[in-house]
Amino acid sequence: MGNLVGKIAVVTGAAQGIGEKIAARLLDDGATVVILDVNFEKLERTASVLGDSGENVYPMKCNVADSEDVSKTFSAIYGKFGKVDILINNAGITRDSFFHKMTPEQWHSVLDVNLNSMFYTCQAVIPHMRTQQYGKIVNVSSSSSWGNLGQGNYSASKAGVLGLTRTLAKENGSKQITVNAVAPGQINTDMTKDLPDDVKKMATMLTPAGRMGDPAEVASVVAFLASDDSSFVNGECISVSGGFLIV
Ligand code: NAI
Repeated sequence: MGNLVGKIAVVTGAAQGIGEKIAARLLDDGATVVILDVNFEKLERTASVLGDSGENVYPMKCNVADSEDVSKTFSAIYGKFGKVDILINNAGITRDSFFHKMTPEQWHSVLDVNLNSMFYTCQAVIPHMRTQQYGKIVNVSSSSSWGNLGQGNYSASKAGVLGLTRTLAKENGSKQITVNAVAPGQINTDMTKDLPDDVKKMATMLTPAGRMGDPAEVASVVAFLASDDSSFVNGECISVSGGFLIV
């Protein structure tokens, strides 16, 4: 607690779910947190709840799949705060379908939000982080990066996240920048709430913990990777899945 005092953090997709809990945790740890989401109404409500305990929370509307929007948003962030120390790339969507029925829209929308967004956000911060010789980037991948029925688009995007993470770690490690990932298993959020009961049951059976995870259990691992406690961890992916068995 308190080890992020003085740090400026940006969390994408923070209006709800895992992103909201990451923002809450970074605030608790002392950071000033800029929260981004495409759903601004919800984001403002979340900011007011988070603000009750932390105060240092700044909501900004941003569609991370839109390069111009990302560019404008980060210009505004640098204009206000002068730096970004921590970037958490959390925004993500699913558009599940078996591959032989998948539409181009389903494919592109998932790749745009889950992977191409990281091209935009990382390009917005990395040059500055290299100059300031400090930065922590945490990218949210998924257990589905190993491949999952009905998730060709999502799995490809989340596997791409890991390739990008390892590459950025190698390219920027000499500048005191770490780039790591987390791979959540089945976590209780809106993303999973409408999954068919048999799918949830199967996922729980394959999870030695015997339950779905809580978003705060992902947030605590992200907070570790965003802090100097993980200063010699770079290019890694930590699975946060209750031991989910990849099949
Ligand atoms: P969620 O659906 O509850 O929240 C996602 C947030 O991202 C929402 O607030 C949404 O408005 C925002 N968002 C969507 N598109 C956006 C865009 N274009 N620009 C900005 N914000 C956008 O989902 P959840 O479960 O909190 O997921 C967070 C991350 O964790 C995602 O990357 C997801 O793929 C990943 N994940 C989730 C798992 C789960 O079981 N819930 C498992 C593995 C990974």
